Amino acid sequence: MARINEHYRNLQAGYLFPEIGRRVGAFAQAHPDAAIIRLGIGDVTLPLARAVVDALHAAVDEMARPETFRGYGPENGYDFLLDAIREHDYGARGVEVSADEIFVSDGSKQDSGNIQEIFGSDCSLLVTDPVYPVYVDTNVMAGRAGAADDSGRHAGITYLPANEANAFTPGPPDERVDLAYLCSPNNPTGAAMDRKTLTAWVDWARAHDAVILFDAAYDAFIRDPELPRSIYEVEGARECAIEMRSFSKRAGFTGVRCAYTVVPAACTGTTASGERVPLRDLWARRHTTRFNGVPYIIQRAAAAVFSPEGRKQTAEQVAFYMENARRIREGLGAAGFTVFAGEHAPYIWMRTPDGLGSWEFFYRLLAEAHVVGTPGSGFGPSGEGFFRISAFNSRENVDEAIGRIRGAFGS
Ligand code: MLT
Repeated sequence: MARINEHYRNLQAGYLFPEIGRRVGAFAQAHPDAAIIRLGIGDVTLPLARAVVDALHAAVDEMARPETFRGYGPENGYDFLLDAIREHDYGARGVEVSADEIFVSDGSKQDSGNIQEIFGSDCSLLVTDPVYPVYVDTNVMAGRAGAADDSGRHAGITYLPANEANAFTPGPPDERVDLAYLCSPNNPTGAAMDRKTLTAWVDWARAHDAVILFDAAYDAFIRDPELPRSIYEVEGARECAIEMRSFSKRAGFTGVRCAYTVVPAACTGTTASGERVPLRDLWARRHTTRFNGVPYIIQRAAAAVFSPEGRKQTAEQVAFYMENARRIREGLGAAGFTVFAGEHAPYIWMRTPDGLGSWEFFYRLLAEAHVVGTPGSGFGPSGEGFFRISAFNSRENVDEAIGRIRGAFGS
């Protein structure tokens, strides 16, 4: 008899976004004439940039010729992509990262879910709440979190509330934990951490010998050049932080799949006997064992994001979504909704109107405005009473959705 992994029984019924998809699908089936606008999952809608498409075509042609065909690639990624990442994502901001600290992968969702594997099963962990559900669910699967109580909190996780009082960017706690997940700009709240707060986190991690797992998947949406885009802009972070970045949102790669994780050589964990071990070596071992690399053509497409045309074209895409975010923020704000963020992220975090519960508002918005958003409580207990609206859609749909929301619920 094959016993199952019992820890899976501690998970919430379904992963948030397929669950929303299922509920919207049921509504659509019952109301076939409803023109539903989806501002739920943060999935890009603009086609790939011209520079990316051209690079893909050229790479496919290379694969068609015997002299340029490629099979397995280097495990960490091709040098042309590693060099571009080092120069543009780090060097341009005064950060030194070496090629053997970068691991190209097929997504930050996977990386942020898989990274916990290199840590002991008894490591304590902390998340800010609300939180991208992958961090919690993967630790539940691994047995670090235990069962959830009625509020949805797992016994083995420290939840640090992100709320209006701390501008949705909580600083470090007083106690120590082994692993702390941070995401900035934040999914779901859209809040971006300033340098002071990030520095406080790095100082805390160094003082407590903790490791920060820093998800920077939305860094390209930061508008203020003073805000840090990488945790390595903070002194000392190389000793205590692992960073994940993605091409999904910055360059429309949600269906293409390419991301990377940086594990600095100086970032270490300890063995049971207290010996220091570089986490990079463990991640390299895992990466090469479980993964055969991102396809050559996809890495060429990712490298094209850093070409002069690619940078210009993808910046225009980001600007397009950020104009959507501005319209949602200002449009709903003017109609009496309490809205947060959306200035450095493609997400608007709002309080549900009339004290409605997050799911209650989800159903009413769907039924009365035919608009889909994401219930804040799906991201954790502190998300109850909040709602996330994504700025990823056409201008026409965004404007139409704002009008419908205002019509159904605005003052
Ligand atoms: C979201 O909507 O939160 C994101 O699309 C999830 C993801 O990037 O996996």
